[in-house]
Amino acid sequence: MRCDRLWTEARLATMAGAGLGIVEDGVVAALGGHILYAGPAADAPAFDAAVATRCDGRWITPGLIDCHTHLVHGGDRAHEFELRLQGASYEEIARAGGGIVSTMRATRVASEDALVASALPRLDALIAEGVTTVEIKSGYGLELDTECRMLAAARRLGDERPIRVSTTFLGAHALPPEFAGDPDGYIAAVCDTMLPAVAERGLADAVDAFCEGIGFTLAQTERVFAAAKAHGLAIKLHAEQLSNQHGAALAARYGALSVDHLEHVDPAGIAAIARSGTVATLLPGAFYFVRETRLPPIDLLRRAQVPIALATDCNPGTAPLSSILLVLNMGATLFRLTVEECLLGVTRHAARALGLGGEIGTLEPGKACDLAIWDIERPAELVYRMGFNPLHARIWRGR
Ligand code: NIG
Ligand code: FE
Repeated sequence: MRCDRLWTEARLATMAGAGLGIVEDGVVAALGGHILYAGPAADAPAFDAAVATRCDGRWITPGLIDCHTHLVHGGDRAHEFELRLQGASYEEIARAGGGIVSTMRATRVASEDALVASALPRLDALIAEGVTTVEIKSGYGLELDTECRMLAAARRLGDERPIRVSTTFLGAHALPPEFAGDPDGYIAAVCDTMLPAVAERGLADAVDAFCEGIGFTLAQTERVFAAAKAHGLAIKLHAEQLSNQHGAALAARYGALSVDHLEHVDPAGIAAIARSGTVATLLPGAFYFVRETRLPPIDLLRRAQVPIALATDCNPGTAPLSSILLVLNMGATLFRLTVEECLLGVTRHAARALGLGGEIGTLEPGKACDLAIWDIERPAELVYRMGFNPLHARIWRGR
């Protein structure tokens, strides 16, 4: 059977079927950027490959997926970090006009080229660790032009580098100063002007909101969801990060792809997302960086069989983090996730959190041939080490 590329003498963690889907003596074949075969050498057809690579027992996983980032933004918040070191809290800084709004100011004055240029080193750090798909949100413009510029910059990152970019419109991230005292007025602008324009220009794959005491209420969030639905866009939510606003249950009612953070989610919220098939995306980097003490209720999520994804949340305020491998370690050490849960969280379940479960996230025929090839003896090493990158090679769409 003809194929473009063939990898042999590999150990596979296909992330399909039960557990990690381990194959001890495995082969992967690619044709036209897609996986033609991934499985035991013993069952493989005889391949006639243009290029064949012996892996010498290295492990192959699906390319990793970072399904929640704010990678595109102007400036940084190192100064606010220093204030927090002196005792100020994230919420105090936000209420005093810092936080998301301070990044908004830096983002509004940045050109699209500048946004792309400043995001590239963060993107390259993810790519160097085997990430082949990344989600990128807007949400630091808080007015139409800058929101669109952020999304256009995010899309352009996918042209500048061999990576798939999934974009999310997060207009309802914070209240911009122009609407001080009038959050409903801003939500009307998001729903009636910004979201329709973003949808019409094809700039976003999904819509997200920050449902929180320092963000938007449940009723305001619902208006954003209704507008997203009306424009055929998928739904995600920053839910129950700092308090329980019952956002997860609302998102479930709207068939959200994922609800993210969830430190304060209650059993009713978990039951709702279990019923709707919504992914719980956990963000241990943000938990660590804001020194959150309340853990997301992992055991309840497990018992309800909610798929769990893990992501960097790469953003200047709560997670200046561009290492998906460190997220794996934090998922295990901070949240007590198992190795299997961590690895599924950045592959199969992360794909599902982006609505891409049919296209990426596992090594299965028909999916994109996005691979990470690792110099490791066992998959647990990917979770166990800190600040060490054992990536041997990264393949995106068969190359
Ligand atoms: O995911 N919670 C809201 N959004 C980001 C933080 C954004 C910021 O502080 O700039 C988050 O944690
Ligand atoms: Fe976030």
